[in-house]
Amino acid sequence: MDAMKTFLCLLLRCLSVSSLLLTGPSQHDTRLGSDTRVPCRFTVEKSPVDLKQLTILWRFLDKEIMSYKNNVKKTSPRYSLSTEALRTGIADLKISNAQISDGGSYKCSVIYKSEGKKNEVWLDIRAPPQVTITDKTVVVNVESILRCSATGFFPIDIEVTWFRGSERLSDVTLDHPQRNPDKTYSVNSTVTITPTEEDREKIFSCRVQHKYLQEPLQVDFQLLYQDRTSAEIIAACSVPLIILINIITAVLWRRQKLRRKGLQTVIPQRKRTHTF
Ligand SMILES: *[C@@H]1O[C@H](CO)[C@@H](O)[C@H](O)[C@H]1NC(C)=O
Repeated sequence: MDAMKTFLCLLLRCLSVSSLLLTGPSQHDTRLGSDTRVPCRFTVEKSPVDLKQLTILWRFLDKEIMSYKNNVKKTSPRYSLSTEALRTGIADLKISNAQISDGGSYKCSVIYKSEGKKNEVWLDIRAPPQVTITDKTVVVNVESILRCSATGFFPIDIEVTWFRGSERLSDVTLDHPQRNPDKTYSVNSTVTITPTEEDREKIFSCRVQHKYLQEPLQVDFQLLYQDRTSAEIIAACSVPLIILINIITAVLWRRQKLRRKGLQTVIPQRKRTHTF
């Protein structure tokens, strides 16, 4: 009987030791600029949770950023915690306007009565690129550069490929990505082509692959042919025009110079020696 009692006692103690449980995923992701909750859920033996006996600690990159013990203390106004939700075992860390620098390892510690449990959650900030064609103007049979711009992405790794119809183009460059003030990256890619008459009808594409794009982002476009004849007309007209402008300027300048000379003869001798 005594042995039975001891056994039950041990069992109960054992049960009571594991009565605080932490659940929730170890990974969470959110879009750059959005409001998010880093999850931390717990269960206790008897709900609702007695808030007087509860302590919550949130750490980010091993620095304490928020705590709850009777009230909430936090290191940034972008962090918050719902004390109401704590009663039901939700200790999520709310972050508003998620930034690239918010990405990383979060640790949630829950202390209830005499027990303590810890959980780590990795937060990824999703920043997929936006893609635009910035240069597509060409002149037929003249070597031309097409440019595609991918902006606002994170992490840095990105792949840009070019197509004419289904044919993959090879004379391609990818610049060194530039860092934006919000810690995202932007990069330009170019392709060099010598467009033919047939290319007028062709669809060109810039295709971008990035970790946070579910599928490659492809921008299709047609080349913008600069009319060669109009370009030539402008060039042909500009030469006589420049000559004409030069003649007019020269005539005006000469006339002004003559007029000034006329004035100078009136200026007294002494003052002239001063000026020159
Ligand atoms: C991409 O090219 C455009 C136009 O040439 C330029 O203004 C921009 O700064 C470039 N961006 C990057 C990230 O190099």
